[in-house]
Amino acid sequence: MSSDKPVRKAVFPVAGLGTRFLPATKAVPKEMLTVVDRPVIQYVVDEAREAGIEHFVFVTGRNKTVIEDHFDLQVELNDTLEKRGKTDEIRQLESLQPKPGQASFTRQQAPLGLGHAVWCARDIIGDEPFALLLPDMIMQSADSCLSSMVELHKKTGGNIVAVEECDPAETHKYGIIDRGEDVGNGFHINDMVEKPPQGTSPSNLYINGRYILQPEIFKLLENQRTGAGGEIQLTDAMLRLAKTEDFFGFHFQGRTFDCGSKEGFIAANVAFALWRPDMADNVRSEIEKLMAEVKPFERRSTERRG
Ligand code: UTP
Repeated sequence: MSSDKPVRKAVFPVAGLGTRFLPATKAVPKEMLTVVDRPVIQYVVDEAREAGIEHFVFVTGRNKTVIEDHFDLQVELNDTLEKRGKTDEIRQLESLQPKPGQASFTRQQAPLGLGHAVWCARDIIGDEPFALLLPDMIMQSADSCLSSMVELHKKTGGNIVAVEECDPAETHKYGIIDRGEDVGNGFHINDMVEKPPQGTSPSNLYINGRYILQPEIFKLLENQRTGAGGEIQLTDAMLRLAKTEDFFGFHFQGRTFDCGSKEGFIAANVAFALWRPDMADNVRSEIEKLMAEVKPFERRSTERRG
């Protein structure tokens, strides 16, 4: 049964290996790569904070301690900034940092899949609904995606996934939903399919990396068999949960960037720079110049002639 408890906690699974971004992610977690002037993970934590989340749960792995450091108070840095009279910078850092006791870190000892990473947070979450944000998906919109989902959850309870339209030719790459009747600012989900074979997809609405889930998911994850890629898949457990619990969808209308892919990460940098009033004009004129001048690199032939 769904509980009516409010959504107070959010899980950020950051234990993946980021193989699509090697060699950058050999020693630096992909969640710490910067979009403009802040790490990707900061955007996602800010989105959760804006949605009223009170406790931030990070599922980390080896080589990820820098994420914990990023959300900690850097006493020496603060002292130096204070001595230099840099009060704006101090205020900015303070506003981004979880308050004492608001963040928990737990380790996924081996990257056994997203479902397994979520399961690692079970004791910290306890018996209440929680938000799950995939930290490599960052979003640009007037209202944060998770805020709208939390609003919807106040009306519907149950489980909620955010969805977005994708190119109908690409549905076989994503988790896709079948849309049912409208409710509040969302709708019922009739069915979910993971990577439907081409020509069989019920829609082009894909699950974009934001979820509100009931704690019952943990029991299902506990005995979830490995699925695609030999990993414990969250979607497999969600499909089992959907047999006994309501699932609702929220159609997100902003832009999402997959910062786990190189193209998505570069697009995010451009889009967020163009969004910033302090940099937009300069960045736009730099991009226009580059678009006119830079052609794909071709190595000069080293063959001897004559
Ligand atoms: P991804 O599949 O996008 O991340 O998982 P990845 O495995 O790190 O990336 P590639 O494919 O090798 O480049 C989505 C999110 O789930 C986390 C990842 O850190 C990422 O934020 N994840 C994935 C875990 O925490 N543990 C896992 O075992 C797998």
